Amino acid sequence: MGKKLRVDKLLAHMGHGTRSEIKRAVKLGMVEVDGRVIKDSGLVVDPEAAEVTFDGVPVVYREVVYFMMNKPQGVISATEDGRERTVIDLLEPQDRLRDPFPVGRLDKDTVGLLLLTNDGQLAHELLSPRKHVAKTYEALVSGDVAEEDKQFFKSGVTLDDGYVTMPAELHISSREQRDDGIYSSISLTIMEGKFHQVKRMFEAVGKQVVHLKRVSMGPLKLDELLAEGSYRELSKEEVELLRSHRKSAE
Ligand code: URA
Repeated sequence: MGKKLRVDKLLAHMGHGTRSEIKRAVKLGMVEVDGRVIKDSGLVVDPEAAEVTFDGVPVVYREVVYFMMNKPQGVISATEDGRERTVIDLLEPQDRLRDPFPVGRLDKDTVGLLLLTNDGQLAHELLSPRKHVAKTYEALVSGDVAEEDKQFFKSGVTLDDGYVTMPAELHISSREQRDDGIYSSISLTIMEGKFHQVKRMFEAVGKQVVHLKRVSMGPLKLDELLAEGSYRELSKEEVELLRSHRKSAE
């Protein structure tokens, strides 16, 4: 046998539920290995050779990876670009080999939380406009962000292309008078992800974002210990959070 993996681990890894849910599925006779219904969820198989089915559907094993990056300014959220440096260029060569891609986009000058994975299904669900995954940004805004802006954002503002945004929650952290005017530190939670959305929402109320950082996406929070430009694998708990979030959003 090449690689060895317990069937319940393999199925959990491929997103078929928690270990206890999988144990139950095995008891119900929903899991087959090489054409035979199995009784023991602890059965050890070679994930690359065994033909495993879950509820009749073949389970194709793939090593999935999830990285949390604190994206720095000056790199683009793409896998390849002829001229510009991308977030993939910031990965170690052995991590690049697993073909992760960024889940959604942050502008070149935006910093903060970026999830990179090769789990297409999870990425698709996190990005689906129907799932309304909450994203929270912290920003420095040139202008006096006021209570009335909270109300505007709550009821939706009209962007430059006529699109009316979904309700968003604005929190004003502080305001500061500088030589060239007032600056406001805010956080904003939006449930959608239109192109340059946060910047355009502030433009719609006559203000300008001068620094933008994403601090959360769904249940995932930026690890503040990650310096800009660095990344780490998600913990098991974080992967579990993402997976259960996906279920609750169904
Ligand atoms: N909104 C923006 O304007 N830019 C980003 O990078 C993300 C959200």
